[in-house]
Amino acid sequence: MKQVSTISDIRSGVAELRAAGKTIAFVPTMGALHEGHLSLMRLAKQKADEVVVSIYVNPTQFGPNEDFDSYPRQMEKDLKACEEEGVSVVFTPNDKIMYGSGERYFGISIDELNEDMDGGSRPSFFEGIALVVNKLFNIIEPDVAVFGQKDIQQFQILSRMVEEFNHDIELVAAPIARANDGLALSSRNAYLSDKERKIAPGLYRALQYVEKQIRDGVDEPKLLLKHQQDELEAKGFKNDYLNVFSMDNMQPVQKLEPGTTYILAGAAYLGKTRLIDNIILDL
Ligand code: PAJ
Repeated sequence: MKQVSTISDIRSGVAELRAAGKTIAFVPTMGALHEGHLSLMRLAKQKADEVVVSIYVNPTQFGPNEDFDSYPRQMEKDLKACEEEGVSVVFTPNDKIMYGSGERYFGISIDELNEDMDGGSRPSFFEGIALVVNKLFNIIEPDVAVFGQKDIQQFQILSRMVEEFNHDIELVAAPIARANDGLALSSRNAYLSDKERKIAPGLYRALQYVEKQIRDGVDEPKLLLKHQQDELEAKGFKNDYLNVFSMDNMQPVQKLEPGTTYILAGAAYLGKTRLIDNIILDL
């Protein structure tokens, strides 16, 4: 496995693979790798000959009061994990390499796809993600890129970006990897205290409960969702959102129609840790 940090080195690393006739699947990450990230690498390996991973904590997707400084960084451990997964090249740029040219672009602005859910709660989050992923796609030019369903709004926004910016890249969504008790794996779970960790699966349980009610026939879930939010608050969560969204435009939906795909998604804080989770509802 190669580790490279400069743009010219990653370009030549990729060019070597291309010269050998290999197809390339790319998995962008911010490191602090867990089983969810590794499941993306495994899926990537099924989709192409060689896997390229990036590890870069992207400053443009963090708000001024967010956890950029404290975001977990564990490069040696991450490189070992990539090696064990059979990754060919890991790209580990720094801020100067990614943003060293005196930026005049601070993000790529996005329409209603970005208004609600995490886009609503975290201004400029997805603008920063679209910017860095656009740059990474231009640098690496993979055939396939793998992202997690865990960040479903990210996946939808980047799918549109690929289309509108004419990247010739197939995006693949990987299912959510969970701990045994149902908690969606996340690098941020490392922030949870023992007590919070025990409460944390409650978010997924709330989503599962709502899913069941909807599958049993509830088509206007507003009160049901409100009730689950109250239950979460009683358990110690501080709610951000819990709602059903249209898969097309990521806007909240009041009345559910059969034959339609929705996303049931929630975000809530436990102490300072923000947890997100979702279930896709194919009705
Ligand atoms: P990061 O949070 O490190 O996640 C990297 C990828 O892993 C994303 O596609 C995310 O959806 C996926 N992932 C995280 N937890 C997962 C889980 N439990 N199961 C399955 N997949 C999971 O997402 C980012 O980084 C950044 O925004 C990035 C795209 C790298 C741009 O900076």
